[in-house]
Amino acid sequence: MSVSVSPSSSVSPSSSPLAPQRFATVARLRAAGCVYAEDEADLLISSATTPAQLQDLVDRRIAGFPLEQLLGWAWFGGLRITVAPGVFVPRARTGLLVREVVACADIGSIVVDLCCGSGAVGAAIAASVRGIRLYAADLDPAAVGCAQLNLRPYGGEVYLGDLCAPLPVELRGRVAVLVANVPYVPTDALDLMPAEARLHEPRLALDGGTDGLDVLRRVAVQAPDWLAPGGHLLVETSEDQAPTATGILRRAGFAARVVHDEDLEATAVIGATRPERAVPVHNSSRSAVKPTGHA
Ligand SMILES: C[S@@+](CC[C@H](N)C(=O)[O-])C[C@H]1O[C@@H](n2cnc3c(N)ncnc32)[C@H](O)[C@@H]1O
Repeated sequence: MSVSVSPSSSVSPSSSPLAPQRFATVARLRAAGCVYAEDEADLLISSATTPAQLQDLVDRRIAGFPLEQLLGWAWFGGLRITVAPGVFVPRARTGLLVREVVACADIGSIVVDLCCGSGAVGAAIAASVRGIRLYAADLDPAAVGCAQLNLRPYGGEVYLGDLCAPLPVELRGRVAVLVANVPYVPTDALDLMPAEARLHEPRLALDGGTDGLDVLRRVAVQAPDWLAPGGHLLVETSEDQAPTATGILRRAGFAARVVHDEDLEATAVIGATRPERAVPVHNSSRSAVKPTGHA
């Protein structure tokens, strides 16, 4: 079981008409090797409305579908985040990125959640910092659909397209915080990932190229055009990738530092632009890529 579903989050299987099936459901999940069989059984029972639906959910769980995609939601940053099938499931470790953004975002500032997936990161930030103006973007239409649902309560605008390309042009030079949980798994390591991720999350959400940092490199090049003076770029990496990622941000003109959280097993690299002005490293990211539309 992944860690992004909280068993305590509004689950009351005893009130379900399917409660009598709990014993058998736990037994099936346990026999299939499910470590948190009781918790998962309660969540699946609470989610199903008929015995046939429960059986289907348990069958698919045993076949390896991520629990969150079966339930249709994941618990992240104290929020219940809608997660559609095929959309990246937000990981608990990304809470570090949220915490660091919350530390540097002010009320009313413009925050961009790039590679937003379900929009979990942006939603958690908006729930913590009042009155931010939130924009998000992703290349995957399914992810954009989820993010629209999850960011609606915060007035977030969600765009479909490649990295910064679909963002409204008037944001250039005005973004206080650009946070990007980019795909960062090295291509050769994809085969080593747990089946839940490997088989049920899109490669687009995972594959970061040869050293895992290809997308991060592109974000580092584009970000200075969008950030305001004194703005910040925050990215998640593995611990091993952090020194290389720091070098990438420094070459793009940022003052970069690494933060690590042992408990979350999470690493983030934070880049700060100089206070007096942003540091564009090229003319325009928009010339190289074509927006695929505004969703
Ligand atoms: C690791 S997931 C992170 C999703 C979300 N931020 C989270 O933490 O749950 C990476 C996301 O980047 C998106 N993505 C990959 N390449 C992209 C690109 N070139 N432009 C925009 N989004 C991209 C994927 O579709 C996926 O949703």
